[in-house]
Amino acid sequence: MTDSEIKIPITETSNPLTVDIDISSSYDLVGLLHQCDSEIFEGWDSYKSNNIFSDDLIFNLQRVSEKVVDILQKRNPACESVVFSGCGTSGRIGFLTSKSINNLLRNIDYKPCCEYIIAGDDKALLTSQESPEDSPQAGVKALQQICKKKKKVLYIGISCGLSAPFVAGQLLYCMEHLDIFTPVLVGFNPVEQARNNPIEGWNETFLSVVTKLSDVQSAGNGFIINPILGPEAITGSSRMKGGTATKLLLEIIMLNALRQLSSSMELGFVPDEDASHYLTADGAIRCNHLMHMYETVCKETYPQALSGGLHEVIDWAGTSLNAGRHVYYIGIDNIGVLGLVDASECPPTFGADVNDVRGFLFGGYTALENREGDLVIKSCPPVQEIIPIEDTMRRSYRDHQGSELEIGANYFVGTILHSLTPQDTVIFLTSSCSELNPAMKMMVQIVRGKCHQVVVFVCYRDANDTHEDIMPQFFSKIVRIRIPVTPYIRSFMEEEGKKPSWFDLLGVHAARRFAAELSCKLLLNAVSTGAHIQKGKVYKNLMVDLKLSNSKLFQRGIEIVKSLVMCSEDTARASVLRSLYGTNVVSEELKKMPVSEHTRIGSFKTKVIPTSLILASKGCLIHEAMEILLKFPVIRAALAQLWSVSNKTMAHFST
Ligand code: F6P
Repeated sequence: MTDSEIKIPITETSNPLTVDIDISSSYDLVGLLHQCDSEIFEGWDSYKSNNIFSDDLIFNLQRVSEKVVDILQKRNPACESVVFSGCGTSGRIGFLTSKSINNLLRNIDYKPCCEYIIAGDDKALLTSQESPEDSPQAGVKALQQICKKKKKVLYIGISCGLSAPFVAGQLLYCMEHLDIFTPVLVGFNPVEQARNNPIEGWNETFLSVVTKLSDVQSAGNGFIINPILGPEAITGSSRMKGGTATKLLLEIIMLNALRQLSSSMELGFVPDEDASHYLTADGAIRCNHLMHMYETVCKETYPQALSGGLHEVIDWAGTSLNAGRHVYYIGIDNIGVLGLVDASECPPTFGADVNDVRGFLFGGYTALENREGDLVIKSCPPVQEIIPIEDTMRRSYRDHQGSELEIGANYFVGTILHSLTPQDTVIFLTSSCSELNPAMKMMVQIVRGKCHQVVVFVCYRDANDTHEDIMPQFFSKIVRIRIPVTPYIRSFMEEEGKKPSWFDLLGVHAARRFAAELSCKLLLNAVSTGAHIQKGKVYKNLMVDLKLSNSKLFQRGIEIVKSLVMCSEDTARASVLRSLYGTNVVSEELKKMPVSEHTRIGSFKTKVIPTSLILASKGCLIHEAMEILLKFPVIRAALAQLWSVSNKTMAHFST
């Protein structure tokens, strides 16, 4: 590795496995994603000892679970809570975990004790809100709000790249209040690769905060959970491996905690020191088993998906996007929420329109169970008039203003269904092959009458489902994933002679459900990534049409220009600035502007990186670069055309 490569964090480096992913068939693409995901469990490169099965990591997971148990045992969520926090997909996965675990707790008559924070508030659960990620102050404010009056908080901050200032602010705040907070950081780079860029209006960097947290960890007051997963299949796209690993790590912590709670209730004693050693060792074994369960799920999902024709669905979705049409996900429960999560990342990652890939959920906001409730109503301006007028206005506001926040399957039926064409792709998502929501049954019939590309992804939670499989009555195309019975699940089912505890029943059910969700996430990521590759939004394995909507993405954009054009950092930066501001000259004033100003413009300006790439490699004027893009609207084609005549760049690619 060269010096400059060492400086680039692993989560931002290109995965050697996928450098040709943009010219792979969709069948091969699924295989490449499978190989990349295997690295989550096998470890990566020289970091194999820091893999997800390492003793240190498993021990830390167990210790964090013990902290959760302490909180659960108090049964006082007004004063004691577990808080998950993050930006983008990291925040969304935290939300999903808190929702699942709170529902589990309600089932055993415990009060829900999990809270979530996402940068940009609830609308960020559904749409990309990148700029709040840059504010440590906003992070602290959100944490203070959620933790008002709390006496004990287990804070779990997630930043896959160890990079989000929003999370750094919260971690520092927790460390300043260790009497209340136990800080936990989840991320996927070695600590020394945490981001060290200055943060506007703050004296710390992510690196300086993590360095402090390492000391806090050594003193036993905090935890860093940072297995090395290897680079993403699409460089920097942390929604993929990063999101997957986040999901399984949070679930392992929480499932293990519930198991421990159930054991201590059965044993009916507060463990003394010896017993607590025993419980710790036992818990570590359970964490390990659970990890194996998720590994098996990843291993089994891809081959099963290919035999169900996932590659054909990717081709359908690619054809839809290329025809200017849409990919719709319509799902039930958390599987449906995963559709919303997958769709929400397409605009920042691929410069997509919010309507290109869109998710809908049966039950809408009621099923989402977010803190702020119906966001369409919430975004409606206050109306002073009498109530009937207010209702009418709200309805008309709903029709005209808030459509990107509409997530209900009803909205799909009322507003989108009539305009479906045979070129759209509709993907139904469910987790049972023997039951289908009645509303979904009706909808499928209508959708199939209008659109040829209709499929269901069924990720079963029940391994021994003996009920009749009704899917073929409704769908001609079914991508079916059966969740295998792994030793973890078996260990609960086969303990003969023992009366099952509530956890044996509920925990097994939850583990299967989590496994099914993970399978579904992998399928959805494959579809949206594959479709955007087919639309030309990826060159080699780089997201060449990303939106420069926060400081991390701004820096990533510069790195993309630098590595593809093989130019200096200065040239790359100047091209990005010229493209952002539509100018031929980068003035001194422009050079001095804060990054926050560039990202403000970058949030709405399109095709910034494609234009920068042309500027940097051709040394042309801005209008000439734009003309090239007008002539070749497919970005990958524009770049291929450009570089087919550039010997320098061709030489680069042939090495
Ligand atoms: O900045 C956007 C983004 O890259 C999202 O795509 C991603 O989900 C989010 O940041 C979170 O990144 P991290 O977990 O590394 O803080």
